[in-house]
Amino acid sequence: MHRIQIIEGDITCCQTDAIVNAANTSLLGGGGVDGAIHRAAGPALLEECRSLNGCATGEAKITRGYNLPARFVIHTVGPIWRDGAHGEHAALASCYRRVFEVAIQHGIRSIAFPAISTGAYRFPPDAACRIALEETARILARHQHFEQVLFVAFNPTVFAAFQSALKAILPPPS
Ligand code: APR
Repeated sequence: MHRIQIIEGDITCCQTDAIVNAANTSLLGGGGVDGAIHRAAGPALLEECRSLNGCATGEAKITRGYNLPARFVIHTVGPIWRDGAHGEHAALASCYRRVFEVAIQHGIRSIAFPAISTGAYRFPPDAACRIALEETARILARHQHFEQVLFVAFNPTVFAAFQSALKAILPPPS
């Protein structure tokens, strides 16, 4: 699990091959990390997004990174939290799985994720970060392809949630 790192900061500064955007189904921008990524990437990102005809919840689509340090942006759409009994957990797990599938298809070896759905979409951070780390652990166990997976927290609550989720997936000390 040494390939996983938790940091606190702004994902638009990450120099990984790809950064992940927590978008909405229109893929035409928004607030939060979506707004930050579009501001940093510049208008060409929106132009390319327009050609993608949106994205379903749980799905992922890739664009170039334009003015971002990252070469690619993989846009995914997390579930809006209702009460946990409307498929939210499965939809969020699908976001991480599909992002990794798209990354493998494009030879991406380092990737940075925000805490998808934990802002405007109100997914409880502890559960959301646990899903993120569990799906990532499954992928990394099968794919030596990835060199680095960064989880970028934008506030201390999410940073702590990512850290405890990481501890939960680490093998018990022998
Ligand atoms: N870098 C890293 N993380 C960030 C950044 C940033 N620059 N800005 C915000 N975040 C964090 C938030 O603090 C939150 O933990 O990203 C996480 C996801 O929050 P949102 O960006 O609100 O995304 P989400 O909850 O998935 O809601 C998506 O919000 O911005 C709109 O267009 C977007 O409609 C979509 C919805």
